[in-house]
Amino acid sequence: MMKNSDKKRIIQIFDTTLRDGEQAPGCSMNLGEKIEVAKRLEKLGVDVMEAGFPVSSPGDFEAVKAVAGIIKNSSVAGLCRCLEKDIDAARESLAKAASPRIHLFLATSPIHMKHKLKMTKEQVLENAVASVKYAKKFCNDVEFSAEDAFRSDLGFICKVFTAVIKAGALTVNFPDTVGYALPGEFGERILYIKEHTAGIEKAKLSVHCHNDLGLAVANSIAAVANGADQVECTINGIGERAGNASLEELVMGLRVRQDYFSVDTRIDSTQFYSISRLVSQVTGVKIQPNKAIVGDNAFAHEAGIHQHGVLTKRETYEIMTPESVGIPKNRMVLGKHSGRHAFEERLKDLGLSVDEAAFDKIFEEFKDLTGKKKTVSDRDIEALVMDTAVSVPETWKLDHWAVNTGSALGASCVIRLQHKDGKYIKHISMGDGPIDSLFKAINHIVGREPELELYEIAAVTEGSASQGKTMVKIAMGGRRWNGRGVSTDVVEASIKAYLSAINAMEWDLAGEKE
Ligand code: KIV
Ligand code: ZN
Repeated sequence: MMKNSDKKRIIQIFDTTLRDGEQAPGCSMNLGEKIEVAKRLEKLGVDVMEAGFPVSSPGDFEAVKAVAGIIKNSSVAGLCRCLEKDIDAARESLAKAASPRIHLFLATSPIHMKHKLKMTKEQVLENAVASVKYAKKFCNDVEFSAEDAFRSDLGFICKVFTAVIKAGALTVNFPDTVGYALPGEFGERILYIKEHTAGIEKAKLSVHCHNDLGLAVANSIAAVANGADQVECTINGIGERAGNASLEELVMGLRVRQDYFSVDTRIDSTQFYSISRLVSQVTGVKIQPNKAIVGDNAFAHEAGIHQHGVLTKRETYEIMTPESVGIPKNRMVLGKHSGRHAFEERLKDLGLSVDEAAFDKIFEEFKDLTGKKKTVSDRDIEALVMDTAVSVPETWKLDHWAVNTGSALGASCVIRLQHKDGKYIKHISMGDGPIDSLFKAINHIVGREPELELYEIAAVTEGSASQGKTMVKIAMGGRRWNGRGVSTDVVEASIKAYLSAINAMEWDLAGEKE
């Protein structure tokens, strides 16, 4: 176990929100959303971001290529099985990366080798070494992951790690793929690997923990305490099944307890609040209120004794400040007299960066909102920014709509959309309620019949003048797209959300035709 008197080590943060996170059910992101998240991960200061699994689909290939083309200050990784065609796809998609990494994985546990791979230990070892050697021809930075390592024979893991390091792997990763480990034993294994893998000093030892027993962060921290150099994790802990280790919890665990670990990371923790909201917004996966670090209640003190304690001396009940994780302080509310400068400053304070064109559009919407609501809160502003900043080009734009509804006759609507080539199309439709009638009319106009998998509406702030925030997920041919909409009128918020999902779908499908 490292003692706090040891020299402070910097732990590498390998973010896999865009790969392990995105592959989880209900967490899919479109290309524009992936690019936006990637930019924010770079700003957060992650050492490596895994942008996808290039060979798995044209969408993943394009996403890795696009992220690799814009990210300069973090390494960009592409995941591959130990197959030449996977490595070829990864190298092609990473060709423009400033700092590319090829991430190979192959299972090493008896259950995976026998039932999934149908390979012997010898074949796995040989395949791992050959794949590292092949990947090294194109990329110096090669990582090898022993899938289901925690349930593998430890002697075999050390043998595989020794061989792949000799073949050139610069990082060896020890995943708890099924989230089975307990912290004490996980830490012991890391120590064992450090002591029994020849050449380990030439490579970084990484861990990748899943959260099936709710222990992903605890296991990752136990690994760090026992010498792991890199941790793989995701924003909000999204990922397969119960998810991966949550990046923000892990980093704050190490930072707040530097007295114990004497380690740190390069992460700018003041970005946590805004990137967590962004990932939640684009995936539609809500953050539980009591989630550590970024949940709505993470810094809320309800009990009188606690409130009194915090007011007298904050440290009585708070081990870190809300500002250290980017939770904005209560500030002056913005209203109709607030100008561009005040609005720009507020965006900066909230950690929201938008380009000039998006800023003009958001400022216009903000001014519009101040006409409808007396005061505009930070949550309103976040909703406006998320709505605009991550949207794809509009194939279809809302022109106008009207709806008639009631308990006796059902609902009927008229809606007119404008296509990007300039033409207007209007349709009248009936339905089982206003939303059903409008979505049917939109389907008719755009000539598509996607399945509506999710429709959610929530108030952005308190009060009946609040903006409504709508999230929809649509699916067609086994693929999914998300859409969001914000408006003080909940029906309009729903139309905007549905159209943004349709536009995401059109953009993806058009990209494939090119
Ligand atoms: O959980 C896992 O084992 C993985 C590997 C591909 C690293 O995600
Ligand atoms: Zn995983």
